[in-house]
Amino acid sequence: EKGGYDYFMLKEIAEQPKAVADTLLGRIGTDGRLTLDELRMSDADLRAVDKVVIVACGTAFHAGMIAKYAIEHWTRIPCEVEVASEFRYRDPIMGPGTLVIAISQSGETMDTLMALRHAREQGAKVLAICNTNGSTIPRESDAVLYTHAGPEVAVASTKAFLTQLVACYLVALYLGQVRGTKWGDEILAVIKELSDAPKQVEQVLETMEPVRELARSLADAKSVLFLGRHVGFPVALEGALKLKELAYMHAEGFAAGELKHGPIALIEEGLPVVVVVPSPRGRSILHDKIVSNIQEIRARGARTIVIAEEGDEAVVPYADHLIRIPVTPVLLQPLVATVPLQVFACELATAKGHEVDQPRNLAKSVTVE
Ligand code: F6R
Repeated sequence: EKGGYDYFMLKEIAEQPKAVADTLLGRIGTDGRLTLDELRMSDADLRAVDKVVIVACGTAFHAGMIAKYAIEHWTRIPCEVEVASEFRYRDPIMGPGTLVIAISQSGETMDTLMALRHAREQGAKVLAICNTNGSTIPRESDAVLYTHAGPEVAVASTKAFLTQLVACYLVALYLGQVRGTKWGDEILAVIKELSDAPKQVEQVLETMEPVRELARSLADAKSVLFLGRHVGFPVALEGALKLKELAYMHAEGFAAGELKHGPIALIEEGLPVVVVVPSPRGRSILHDKIVSNIQEIRARGARTIVIAEEGDEAVVPYADHLIRIPVTPVLLQPLVATVPLQVFACELATAKGHEVDQPRNLAKSVTVE
């Protein structure tokens, strides 16, 4: 049942190109536009959306954080994202134009379910992004966009995360398409590039041996930090979460711009720091800033592990370890940048002798609040 792999997690990491392709399947028309009747909202209703609120937990929350960048950029609709366990307890503001998106692999997470119930009671429409057919969260939502990752058995979420990203991009692009935002041409171009994602994820998977080797060499590290900016920030958080849950190691993700506001004090000789570098194209100002961050931490002794786009030469002098990812549109980078972090955490945990499919203290779906 593990298909020749030692662990379900390895199998599920390897299945990501197919999971991404299956989640795209049938949703891009021959004219290059999206068809998402599943949203069960008329174009008029979609045009009336004046606020998007995303609720989710853990890894799904990180997908939601990335969705916020995409939704606000492509649709210009204000978007909030919040961990589901906090949402209903702060008396959140919702109106008839609020679209709440609840993201959940299992569809049974109690925190997310309670958040969506609260949203519906306040009159908001709820769209579920879910991987499990007929589970509670989609049943209680107004509509559901299923991810087609297939069953995810390992406790740590991998392929479900990539498909959650795809589903979020689809919703964001569709909102943009229906509303005819000023990004119209960009939206069509991105839909096209999104269909290349399975190939690109495959490409990343083929180059993971050095990452595994690096992970094994770090089995005795006390702590690992992860830095990113823009959509790379949630990717950093996801990389840290994977390492915590699998390797039982202290790991923390930061927005690289926050470094100077405190966390830089943590940097000491030999501390491994993973940096997710934004594309030098597009928002190149962020790229330059993060290159300065890498220089700063390296000058203070950090062992830098740099994830950067193919052809980005500016990072080379400051990278103790360089992990290359394919060139993608800025907002889609998490689809390829997350994969090395999954492999890294899985291999490091295995090197420490941990059972990666069943980490201690964790359950696959958390059905208590
Ligand atoms: C992390 C992980 C958890 C889940 C979270 C939400 O690897 O698996 O953080 O992402 O418990 O679960 P779902 O998506 O089922 O609501």
